[in-house]
Amino acid sequence: MKRFSLLLLSILGILIMPLAQAEYVIKFSHVVSPQTPKGIAADWFAAEVNKRMAGKVRVEVFPNSQLYNDNKVMESMRLSKGKTGLMAAPSLSKFVKFSRQLQAFDIPFLFNDLDDVHKLADSALADKMTAPMERKGIKAMAFWDNGMKVFSIKGDRPLKNIPDDFKGKKFRIQSSNVHEAMIKTLGGTPQKLPFKEVYTALGQGVVDGQENAWANVYSKKFHEVQDYITVSNHSYLGYLVVVSADFWKDLPADIRKELTAIMQEATEVNRKAAADADNNNRKSIEGAGYAKVVELTPQERAKWKQALAGVEKKFAGQIGKELLAEIHALLGN
Ligand code: LMR
Repeated sequence: MKRFSLLLLSILGILIMPLAQAEYVIKFSHVVSPQTPKGIAADWFAAEVNKRMAGKVRVEVFPNSQLYNDNKVMESMRLSKGKTGLMAAPSLSKFVKFSRQLQAFDIPFLFNDLDDVHKLADSALADKMTAPMERKGIKAMAFWDNGMKVFSIKGDRPLKNIPDDFKGKKFRIQSSNVHEAMIKTLGGTPQKLPFKEVYTALGQGVVDGQENAWANVYSKKFHEVQDYITVSNHSYLGYLVVVSADFWKDLPADIRKELTAIMQEATEVNRKAAADADNNNRKSIEGAGYAKVVELTPQERAKWKQALAGVEKKFAGQIGKELLAEIHALLGN
């Protein structure tokens, strides 16, 4: 019995040794569920780093706002030093304090679909948009997708006619001034709220509606407390994976190189998961029978697009007119 216990202890020791001995630890904090494209890619990144870099680096993932919400994580990131670094993937809409240029990703109807988004995310323009953040303590590692956004609402009819269907309704938005302007233009009242408060705010009627990608609506059950979802695909929800710049600079060059390569692979995993989620989560929501899913007619979509053209003009000064022109040239629109 004693020998068996000793054997068990040494096996356990071998199993947990690499974990215990990792020289560097990365805490990856995010706010969504592990089943979303971001959650899946974060878990994949952690598993691969922990396998391939055992003893050198250990990644621990904290989903569902367990560790930080998105605004707090960026403040904490700037202060994180030493052998434990913070990584996160806040939505691009939450970076306004760090990069005015990234607000371009929020412009309504700029992208038709995820292929358009990838043209920009994979271009040299994207590097130009993220480079200034390093001076502010944040190093950009990758662009990850969630998907194109849809609108949901509680009420007697779906959101189709603007501004009538938006009038008198409150909409939860992320901490984005572009979103604020967009909701006002559509006729509604915007209210900025952290992601983890959205379900309760919808359920208790603090807000009437919200906009998000299918994966977030489904995984957080927003459709269960809403009556209609309009497939508007009016703008994009995606992320910038970021890490503390000081922590990153202090890592040995070979570790940085290996982490960068695994992150590139994780980005492929994320894109595949996002493409799958777009279809599957929509179907699951339709099948669940709570909110009714409706499409915009081409005429309605054209009307939304025309009405929202002013939002880009309003933010052109902040984002940079030249940058916007380069983005339009790249997308051919
Ligand atoms: C939101 O706040 O709605 C999203 O940014 C959440 C997320 O990370 O997808």
